[in-house]
Amino acid sequence: MKQKGIDSFVNQRIWVIGASSGIGEACTKAFIKAGAKVALSSRRAERLDTLAQSAKPGQALVFPLDVTRQEQLDSAYRGILEAWGGLDLLLFVSGVYTPLRADNFEFNIAQKTIDANLLGPMRAVSIVMPDMLKVHSGHIAIVGSVAGYSGLPKALAYGPSKAGIINFCETLYYDLLPQGVSVHMISPGFVATEATAQNDFEMPALITADEAAQEILAGLQAGEFDIHFPKRFSGFLKFLRILPYPLYFWIIRRFVKI
Ligand SMILES: NC(=O)c1ccc[n+]([C@@H]2O[C@H](COP(=O)([O-])OP(=O)(O)OC[C@H]3O[C@@H](n4cnc5c(N)ncnc54)[C@H](OP(=O)(O)O)[C@@H]3O)[C@@H](O)[C@H]2O)c1
Repeated sequence: MKQKGIDSFVNQRIWVIGASSGIGEACTKAFIKAGAKVALSSRRAERLDTLAQSAKPGQALVFPLDVTRQEQLDSAYRGILEAWGGLDLLLFVSGVYTPLRADNFEFNIAQKTIDANLLGPMRAVSIVMPDMLKVHSGHIAIVGSVAGYSGLPKALAYGPSKAGIINFCETLYYDLLPQGVSVHMISPGFVATEATAQNDFEMPALITADEAAQEILAGLQAGEFDIHFPKRFSGFLKFLRILPYPLYFWIIRRFVKI
């Protein structure tokens, strides 16, 4: 049994949460170009408005919100239903990253990271899923990270938040596949965005946000559960996680600046 893909994005009703920059912005531009209807969300309203202006009249909606605020997500979804009467795809891209290691670990930062990166998607899914289950169609796509595969340095909060996304998507898939609702777990490697501009090391297999968007749209169209890229990097990390721990830790210490 294979889950459904998206034959064409024309007139698909898509909610992009985290549309104001980076991968989310690039996906939004690609959806607009492909003729989809797009609802844009994140905190920075001006950036969403500017992006919406690049769409045709009636093609884009803007709902500024913070993913840690349930009532703001609820109200945006109500707005989407009023305007469109339903939703075909939730693409949750929003995420935050603060490098954290043992010598600067702060619980408050960890809590904020989990709230935005793991509880945020759970909030959004809890809002859209009941209607998708009723109509036995729809797509839930969540951007995690290859950093969720196994422990990596400097990711004491980000890593667990993204590992949680992997388990959440895997577990959702069991329930939603027989109901006709597709789940897409998206695991990017390094992508050049505002988030990675802070990195003080050379990022292997770095790709642009537009390239990431192409991978994501192609994966959604094909109905893929596991959308990971670029394969030369994500495939290597997938291989590392099946190694015994002593070998895994040795390789990471050998190749990553710790
Ligand atoms: N870049 C990479 O190398 C890479 C690799 C693997 C995974 N990822 C994941 O890809 C996703 C996008 O990252 P990016 O690199 O494109 O970063 P980015 O350019 O910093 O974009 C992050 C997006 O998340 C939104 N956001 C953050 N906190 C939010 C909140 N509390 N409420 C609503 N929106 C919020 C931001 O919008 P506002 O500031 O306007 O709210 C922005 O639109 C993240 O989940 C990230 O973890 C990125």
